[in-house]
Amino acid sequence: MTMHDIGLQQRFELAKALAEEAGAMAFDYFDRRDTLVIETKRDLQDVVSIADRNVETFLRERVLAAIPEDSFLGEEFGLQDGTSGYTWVVDPIDGTAPFVSGMPSWCVSIAVLHRGLPVIGVIKVPCANEIYAAAEGVGATLNGKTLKLDASRTVQNSMTGISSNTLAAPEQVGSIITDLLARGGSFIRNGSGALMLAYVAAGRLVGYYEPYMRAWDCMAGFCLIKEAGGRFMAFPGEGKAFLDAHPVLAGNISAYDELMAIHDASLARPIAASA
Ligand code: IPD
Ligand code: CA
Ligand code: CA
Repeated sequence: MTMHDIGLQQRFELAKALAEEAGAMAFDYFDRRDTLVIETKRDLQDVVSIADRNVETFLRERVLAAIPEDSFLGEEFGLQDGTSGYTWVVDPIDGTAPFVSGMPSWCVSIAVLHRGLPVIGVIKVPCANEIYAAAEGVGATLNGKTLKLDASRTVQNSMTGISSNTLAAPEQVGSIITDLLARGGSFIRNGSGALMLAYVAAGRLVGYYEPYMRAWDCMAGFCLIKEAGGRFMAFPGEGKAFLDAHPVLAGNISAYDELMAIHDASLARPIAASA
């Protein structure tokens, strides 16, 4: 067993335990969401509350108390640099819009990167009592059951998750959906990109595409999908580009090329707003 294997195992156990605790904490806020003050960030669709901030603070403090040499990136409070080569990438609540509206499609998303690549992905979905967990070379599970993608699933016989935020031009999003429908596919959006990526790992969706997302939205899902036998398009995990928004594309190998063709075609169309 290498030092990396030992480091990975220690962090995987910690990530799973913290996802359960953070999920319970977020669910408590969800239960009393009528008392939360909802603020907006980038635009009126981009909402946040004390629930997002406190769940992230909880995770940040617990991770850095256990492994002070790790880096930590969270959506609400940014990047804290460490020295170990491992970076925790956390979205305390992905799907805040459904969360504040009383819908169950939100999750706590925890990834760990090693030298920029996602090696751990844990997604806790409190309303469904589900935990998705994957680590490099170990495989992916849903509530302890192994996930393995089915090669007979295609864009045509399955649903694809498509989402967007205000970083993407409406025409670009329209063209992506038009292209998918023209190929005989169908789309779904539930308000949580991280959760839809977990659904790809579970074989519920055949793929996921969004023109612009951040690392905390997608890194845990990438690890889950890869370990379940799927593929994801490279996304910067280090350097300045790490903190920027980039296209997110991931899926079953049997759908990947077709989703990539949709992505390529969308780039030839209208220009998105700057991130
Ligand atoms: C958002 C959700 C949404 C996606 C956005 C994300 P948030 O994250 O994942 O589905 O379309 O791009 O920003 O704001 O709920 O953490
Ligand atoms: Ca998010
Ligand atoms: Ca969030």
